[in-house]
Amino acid sequence: MPQPSFPITRLRRLRRTENLRRMVRETALSVDDLIYPLFVAPGLNVKDEILSMPGNYRWSIDRLPAEMEEIATLGIPAVLLFGIPEAKDEVGSEGYADDGIVQQAVRKIEEAVPELIVITDVCLCEYTSHGHCGVIHDGEVQNDPTLRLLAKAAVSHAAAGADIVAPSDMMDGRVAAIRSALDANGFEMTPILSYAAKYASAFYGPFRDAADSAPQFGDRRGYQMDPPNRREALREVQLDIDEGADMVMVKPALSYLDIIREVRDMTDVPVAAYNVSGEYSMVKAAAQMGWLDELRAALEILTSIKRAGADLILTYWAKDVARALRGGDW
Ligand code: PBG
Repeated sequence: MPQPSFPITRLRRLRRTENLRRMVRETALSVDDLIYPLFVAPGLNVKDEILSMPGNYRWSIDRLPAEMEEIATLGIPAVLLFGIPEAKDEVGSEGYADDGIVQQAVRKIEEAVPELIVITDVCLCEYTSHGHCGVIHDGEVQNDPTLRLLAKAAVSHAAAGADIVAPSDMMDGRVAAIRSALDANGFEMTPILSYAAKYASAFYGPFRDAADSAPQFGDRRGYQMDPPNRREALREVQLDIDEGADMVMVKPALSYLDIIREVRDMTDVPVAAYNVSGEYSMVKAAAQMGWLDELRAALEILTSIKRAGADLILTYWAKDVARALRGGDW
């Protein structure tokens, strides 16, 4: 039945007070949805603020337990770890070394705060001297030879105790390669969260600064997705699910809300969205200039990502949002 129109219908009636608005609010952010990305660096007693991402730090392993304790106490269920190795090489060896920086960090966290879900980013770009997400031959990132190294990295993370592995490289066939390597090594219960629709985005700029992972030549457009494409994202997601992904991700989030909605509508697997570094830093910068209210802007952005259909949100604001949700702010 169509509603009678004005003056019988007045939508403002239900907007008058905060309690009325609360009663009819359609989307609620929850701390349960949040995944907090963190950077782990070599050294001792390091808590090094990332210039391009104020409020986020590179942590040395010895300082992780206290930070993880705080994250868990805030009610955040999961973290995503990125490693910044001591040394990089052509084939990203530290990415799959048993005593690599991420592997050591995972062991430390699992020992200190075992209930916290530790997700590891599986990629080579933080570990390669050229900054690309795979091995290079004739100036090109090679797909199939890279799969073997990604599978090794995933197995080494699982062996260290990672609860979930998250491949972010965008090579074809990586989910299948990782699934079969995990299973062959006794990790058949380790889920894969695949960065399924990951676009070649300008919004990764601050992250590459933080992880020192900018490509030394060329760019990532030969493997990450072309931003104008929508149908291709659905193909990527379907392929990853067919290869065994337990959860899929859309990344970045804010410029791709339409993709999040379509992915949500096409599949029943949990959908994650990555509110990436550039989406965080541009709000931070504007807030520092006094041009907008950071917390309100952050909550509005994250709520829009949830409203678009994301079940899980990776965000550098996780701790601030957890605190705000506790304080009943929004
Ligand atoms: C690694 C990776 C990147 C991000 C997550 N995993 C960088 C990239 O692809 O260049 C970006 C995260 C962010 O910007 O917050 N491949």
